[in-house]
Amino acid sequence: MTLSGIEERFSIVTIDKEIFINNFSEDVKTGLTSESKYLPFVYFYDHIGSQLFEQICELPEYYLTRTEADILETNADDIASQFSEETVLVELGSGSSTKTRILIEAFLERQSLAHYTPIDVSHKMLEESSYSLLEAYPDLEINAIAARYNEGIDHLNIQTDQQNLITWLGSSIGNFDRSEVTTFLRHIQEIMLPNDRFLVGIDLQKDKTIIENAYNDTRGVTAEFNLNLLTHVNRELGGDFDLENFYHKAIYNEEIGRVEMYLVSNIDQKVFIRELDLEILFTADETIHTEHSFKYSLDDIDTLAEESGLCVEQQWFDAERLFSLNLFASAAD
Ligand code: AVJ
Repeated sequence: MTLSGIEERFSIVTIDKEIFINNFSEDVKTGLTSESKYLPFVYFYDHIGSQLFEQICELPEYYLTRTEADILETNADDIASQFSEETVLVELGSGSSTKTRILIEAFLERQSLAHYTPIDVSHKMLEESSYSLLEAYPDLEINAIAARYNEGIDHLNIQTDQQNLITWLGSSIGNFDRSEVTTFLRHIQEIMLPNDRFLVGIDLQKDKTIIENAYNDTRGVTAEFNLNLLTHVNRELGGDFDLENFYHKAIYNEEIGRVEMYLVSNIDQKVFIRELDLEILFTADETIHTEHSFKYSLDDIDTLAEESGLCVEQQWFDAERLFSLNLFASAAD
């Protein structure tokens, strides 16, 4: 059976749109007036930032996307074979949904219809990527949710009682502190029914050089991505950051197992942010911390699962073991 037109196969709900708008100015103020300056990584992803991130994913040094896609290509059929016709494929932070196509295709190989629920903060991204998926796959139905993870998950909970395969790809998990991740995974575990599964792409700890190169690409795309945060502040809040006066820095902190990304002030300078009526002083070499990207060992993954009430049911790797794809089930069942 083929479903009808694209419109009939698509719905989108938007949850708590106002929250984001108000938070930006407050978050910028808090971050830039704090003792050690920082800006929350979520604000990377304005329209330009999202495009720059897509470019990062195609960089030769940025092994994460390529290895995860390889793992998915190799194992998508195995994964799809474990789920019923009625499965809803839920994706956290779906973005452009590029890698998800591999899973959708694997499901459609085996069944006549597929249900996809992408959750993303960007309404625009959701609409764009959904339309392109619906055009490509006439037997696909999409119920998108424009929300942050937690609100999206809660909405899902009340909306469906079908089997769910929740995916969280791209090692987005890396942006969260270990304790934050545990809290979030517990939240997922709480809504999971016995037949539901949670598929998570997690970047692994490895040689420092490989990791640092992935965040210091020779074309400078990651630098542009990082500096775009300042452009975002300039545009939305009337800031006068001069991008020439800051540079991108990314180092791998082996002890903690995370990449730390900074914007470093080249000189002593003053920056004024009109909307916040705020003047900020920078000394030469002073940093704004913009991102953490945690890398996991296999033991870390087991511990994380244990602390979150989940168990690792299956695990896949690329040939070089740079990246992992993990299928979690609720340990309670
Ligand atoms: C989207 C969090 C997975 O940490 O590798 C890429 C973001 N930052 N290059 C990552 C990012 C700089 C990315 N994640």
